[in-house]
Amino acid sequence: MKILAIESSCDETAAAVVEDGTRVLSSIVASQVDVHHVYGGVVPELASRKHIEAIVPVVQEAIEAAGIDRSEIDAVAVTQGPGLVGALLVGFSYAKAYAWGLGIPCVGVNHLEGHMSSIFLGDNPLEFPYVALLVSGGHTSLYYVTGPTDYELMGQTRDDAVGEAYDKVSKMLGLGYPGGVVIDRLAQKGDPKAIAFPRPYLDKKAFDFSFSGLKSAVGRHLKDHPEPDETRLHDIAASFQESVAVVLCHKLTYAAQVKKCRHIAVVGGVAANSRVRAMVAEVAKKRNLSFHTPELKYCGDNAAMIGAIGYHRLREGKTLKVNDDTYSRA
Ligand code: KG4
Ligand code: ZN
Repeated sequence: MKILAIESSCDETAAAVVEDGTRVLSSIVASQVDVHHVYGGVVPELASRKHIEAIVPVVQEAIEAAGIDRSEIDAVAVTQGPGLVGALLVGFSYAKAYAWGLGIPCVGVNHLEGHMSSIFLGDNPLEFPYVALLVSGGHTSLYYVTGPTDYELMGQTRDDAVGEAYDKVSKMLGLGYPGGVVIDRLAQKGDPKAIAFPRPYLDKKAFDFSFSGLKSAVGRHLKDHPEPDETRLHDIAASFQESVAVVLCHKLTYAAQVKKCRHIAVVGGVAANSRVRAMVAEVAKKRNLSFHTPELKYCGDNAAMIGAIGYHRLREGKTLKVNDDTYSRA
């Protein structure tokens, strides 16, 4: 089954063609980062307008790159929420109209379930059950997953999402938006032990997270030591990143231990982080856990992951009706 998938929940207009929920025939992502960069964050009204400009060519490109004809598409899958409503509406309305025009079903999916399903893309299947850590700009959550659409929330952040903490620290350091990639790059040149930033475990046996205290600690450090030189900047980035990675790694592997589960996964934009990937891989090896993470191109927002979850939701018969709407919160 070939699914045309569309994603427009935030600042990426994306379309993909995915076969049977795993085989990516094409995946096109048009990023708006350049538009929002100057404002230090995503401006919702600008995001909606950019989606309107991009949606037609991006979908066209996805179909062409897949080497198929429109008539070969069996169904459309689209992000229904959570996200910016004005942004979501562009992809959502377009997807519904496209599907009805072709007389094929359209399925609305949850963006977070999309990130969770990014792990199924490609030919390295993951066995159930597994513990998944979802780390993005809006969410930091741990799930115990028993099937493609069956999962239990074990814990989540009580304040900032980890990606949000990265973006805010980046802003404090004058490095702009989005911050994750930049801090990751600078951290590779720094000493992770240079500054003893807090490691926000809360309770070491709990699965909730909190990153606003760590973010504030970086702010206090900058107040006490203003205008860091290049070496200091690298050390701040590395020390902040080390605190994040240690906590994420501990909670994920401890959750696997509690659930007596041999498989673990990290998904979402922050799953692209080099230190998080390396640390989890190392601990997983020591504890004989199998560790899965999507290819880098499927960590951040993309439509291939929407096609992956769309396939399973479609099999459950979850198709949209003409007056179904988007939703902003999970
Ligand atoms: O999943 P995503 O693309 O969008 C949301 O659904 O939020 O995640 C975006 C987040 C941003 O906060 C960005 O700074 C962060 O992922 N991010 C990273 C890295 N690449 C992206 N954070 C840390 N290290 C990275 N390499
Ligand atoms: Zn996302």
